[in-house]
Amino acid sequence: MHLPPLATDRPTRVLFVCLGNICRSPLAEGLFKRHVTQKGLEQGFVIDSAGTGGWHAGEAPHRGSRAVARRHGLDISDQQARQVRLADLEAFDLILAMDHRNLNDLQALQQARPAHAKIACLLDLAPVDHRRDVPDPYGQDDEAFEDVYRLLDLSTQQLLEEWVGLSAHR
Ligand code: 4NP
Repeated sequence: MHLPPLATDRPTRVLFVCLGNICRSPLAEGLFKRHVTQKGLEQGFVIDSAGTGGWHAGEAPHRGSRAVARRHGLDISDQQARQVRLADLEAFDLILAMDHRNLNDLQALQQARPAHAKIACLLDLAPVDHRRDVPDPYGQDDEAFEDVYRLLDLSTQQLLEEWVGLSAHR
């Protein structure tokens, strides 16, 4: 899958997806937003996150994700978990799964109703090391959340740089 072209007449819409929308995808959302803001590109993107499961809908991000974000000067505490909706497949341009299980679940949804969004695993598009799945830190210690933070910080930055660079050359 290649990155879809950035929209020119409206913001490009990006959705980060994990299982519960409380650990990984809220961090991905917060970090991608920060990279976009640091480049002054806020007007160019709508950025959100969701979970393939709905068990945590309405909840704030997990304590471990809030804590690691705070240690790095990022506040994600105002986010609220929600489940992916079929309408998201139409509303978003790019949906980025945290792991291949999330990707499979999203692709199953897309088969039920083929739609506009391109769907891929974040680490397939913007790899940082050998890993292609963002490990699930749920139930793990602070170090696991730090690892996920580092991985997502580097990957979302790389994604943005590649995307903006590609569009400049189109
Ligand atoms: P996330 O982590 O998908 O990164 O938000 C999880 C959160 C909750 C559960 C599993 C993973 N859970 O089983 O409730």
